[in-house]
Amino acid sequence: MSKVYVFDHPLIQHKVTLIRSKDTGTKEFRALVDEVAGLMAFEITRDLPLQEVEIQTPVATAKSKVIAGKKLGIVPILRAGLGMVDGFLQLVPAAKVGHVGLYRDPETLKPVEYYVKLPTDVEERDFIVIDPMLATGGSAVEAINSLKTRGAKNIKFMCLIAAPEGVEILQQAHPDVDIYIAALDEKLNDHGYIVPGLGDAGDRLFGTK
Ligand code: PRP
Ligand code: URA
Repeated sequence: MSKVYVFDHPLIQHKVTLIRSKDTGTKEFRALVDEVAGLMAFEITRDLPLQEVEIQTPVATAKSKVIAGKKLGIVPILRAGLGMVDGFLQLVPAAKVGHVGLYRDPETLKPVEYYVKLPTDVEERDFIVIDPMLATGGSAVEAINSLKTRGAKNIKFMCLIAAPEGVEILQQAHPDVDIYIAALDEKLNDHGYIVPGLGDAGDRLFGTK
């Protein structure tokens, strides 16, 4: 079974509280999502392999460590996942970015795929799928199916807010995919929204409500 990590760093928790508030407008919401994505990127990359290199400082020769050339790809689930891309890339600027476009059918709550574009060397990359919300879990499961169908092997899933129902569905469907979240909420409501959640992440990010 996959592991679930809740990032409870005070800065992440503080910013998530601001993100949740209905009084936070689009501009601030977008900036905060970006910042939390960066903080989460810092945590999720803790296990990146290092290699030792020799360099010259102005004073002496030194053996020091750099990231071991591991190829990383991030895959935002469109649309709302886009809001986390820049924050992540500020920390890992060399990561390639794939895209999976999905929307939740408002009646069935099932994800509908409308776009997929991944880096060409899918099989050699480690991927992190990113989306602010893990609600029923349908979108995350489908996005990861899409990656696996195209040859991806090592995948993590990162989101801001998750419902227990979505975590369980994702763990059942993809027991090899660890889940990284900033907050684990109480439940889903009858419309498939996370309670207390933050509302509709895409609408709040892009001001479309
Ligand atoms: C939201 C969110 C997730 C999905 C989560 O996207 O960004 O992708 O819902 O719900 P699920 O776990 O029940 O599948 P939405 O479908 O609203 O599309 P958008 O990002 O284009 O707004
Ligand atoms: N998608 C959202 O944007 N918010 C939710 O609470 C659930 C799905």
